[in-house]
Amino acid sequence: MTVTIPGYDTVVSKETDGSGVSRRSFIVGAGVPAFAAAVGVASPRDAAAAAPPAARSGGRAKSDGPQAVPIALTINGERRELSVEPRVTLLDALRERLHLTGTKKGCGQGTCGACTVLVNGRRIDSCLTLAIMHQDDRITTIEGLANGDELHPVQAAFLEHDGFQCGYCTPGQIVSAVGFLAEKRGLEDATVREYMSGNICRCGAYPNIVSAIQDAGKRA
Ligand code: FES
Ligand code: FES
Repeated sequence: MTVTIPGYDTVVSKETDGSGVSRRSFIVGAGVPAFAAAVGVASPRDAAAAAPPAARSGGRAKSDGPQAVPIALTINGERRELSVEPRVTLLDALRERLHLTGTKKGCGQGTCGACTVLVNGRRIDSCLTLAIMHQDDRITTIEGLANGDELHPVQAAFLEHDGFQCGYCTPGQIVSAVGFLAEKRGLEDATVREYMSGNICRCGAYPNIVSAIQDAGKRA
């Protein structure tokens, strides 16, 4: 009988190959690694572990991934230059690199709206887009809405109408509301609820959030 072991050039024949390895011990024993040790060759796993890093990656030097690339964003009216790896989301760039932590990370997968920012006036989930996709874009975060000590009308309305409880969703709600009001879709209850439905409030402050948005919309 001839046995060829995947990953080896070695071929072993008959009941024993002269090294004391029987077919039965090959089949019933500990499998390829033990067999390989018995015949004096390294198993594929051991060989891989012992190989230098370049050999482990097929002869190429080990890579940690694409390198950081320089980008420039206009954030809240200010040009910001930074260097980010292509995998970095806009949300992480804002929070971790630029320390604009008003924009919250909730789900990280486009479900809750806590990470809402305006990009060129359009509201988006910043957890679902990569920072490098926004070269030269205008980005507005919750930190960019107030004018000095003067709150944005939507911020003021949220305060006036108690449009929050824990407050975690609130930056996303407010930024989204600013975008919604700019879209001029109307202020009926159903319209506000429909077009703000991407912003989840786990505290259930929806009635007050809707009132705040309607009030800010009427004053605009
Ligand atoms: S954190 Fe982006 S949608 Fe939830
Ligand atoms: S105020 Fe708590 S999640 Fe909305």
